[in-house]
Amino acid sequence: MIVAANFKTNHTRESTANYLEALNLFLDAYSTFCDVRVYPTASSFLKADLYSHIKLGAQNFYPIINGACTGEIGAQQLSEFGVKNVLIGHSERRAALKETQEFIAKKYAFAKENGWDIIYCIGEPKDVRDNGFENVMEYLWGEFDGIDINYEKLSIAYEPIWAIGTGISAEVKDIAKVLDTLKSRLNNIPLLYGGSVNIENLSSIISLKSCNGALIGNASLDVANFCKLIQIAQNVQKQ
Ligand code: PGA
Repeated sequence: MIVAANFKTNHTRESTANYLEALNLFLDAYSTFCDVRVYPTASSFLKADLYSHIKLGAQNFYPIINGACTGEIGAQQLSEFGVKNVLIGHSERRAALKETQEFIAKKYAFAKENGWDIIYCIGEPKDVRDNGFENVMEYLWGEFDGIDINYEKLSIAYEPIWAIGTGISAEVKDIAKVLDTLKSRLNNIPLLYGGSVNIENLSSIISLKSCNGALIGNASLDVANFCKLIQIAQNVQKQ
């Protein structure tokens, strides 16, 4: 079970350090089978090996080792911190940062070459959702163009765009339908749900048979709340 915190553009270097220390202390005392990942801002990276129970990840990177790419961060900078986990394809980067499927596939291939763990994000906009389930799946499958689904360090986060940061999660039955359909073609790839996950809805979402975790934004920003989310995930008994 993966429980992942996506900080987006939140927290400072100081508050990230406090957060990670508190979370690691909590996990020291609370033994969990959950795979706990935190994706802070790049300016808040700390050495990943300081936190034995947490996998530190990057929300973004540019697919180069180093070189001429103003404002970006490459593999050399990530490796300085021991960061080996990345998010790729988040809808905020697809939309606001205009990352195309072609560029996303290039980032994916680069991450694979580097042997990084990838959470690959997919999700449909509201107008596609309004056109029904078949359209949703067609849209989602399109987001696999150029993506090698046989990569063994791949997890997929299904995050309906209209549910992200809105406080309105998708309905559990709709999440189930999408995840079951993805699972039928993607075999053993861990599937996460993301989009307004919180302490009220997490349990029912991760109890779904095709759900292997959650990618959490807003509700992860407070460390005590994130610890509660980990406890909820831990308590869910899979059939
Ligand atoms: P949210 O964000 O939990 O704030 O909806 C999730 C995400 O974008 O990964």
